[in-house]
Amino acid sequence: MKTFDLGVLDDFVNGEARQMRLDGHVLVVVRIDESVYVLDDRCSHEDFSLALGEVSAETCEIECARHGAMFRLSDGEPMSFPATRPVAHYDVLSANGRLQVMVP
Ligand code: FES
Repeated sequence: MKTFDLGVLDDFVNGEARQMRLDGHVLVVVRIDESVYVLDDRCSHEDFSLALGEVSAETCEIECARHGAMFRLSDGEPMSFPATRPVAHYDVLSANGRLQVMVP
């Protein structure tokens, strides 16, 4: 497991998805209020960037822009078809005001 610095909370726009590349991983990072979520930036239905999709702050989900599957940001579980498999989710820690993500 490796830990990578993501920056500080204010580096992220509330309710927007941003793609980040870290050490060969392509991730989608989403801030909702005071929380930051990190998933693999690859829909589990087909190979498509989730960072291009809309975020629902109300349900804490992200929509795949290609066919509309919704994924729960807290754990990457699919909440609607056509996706049936989860997207990998990574824990985010806060240390001295810096956000860090742990990836394998
Ligand atoms: S590629 Fe994401 S729902 Fe089909």
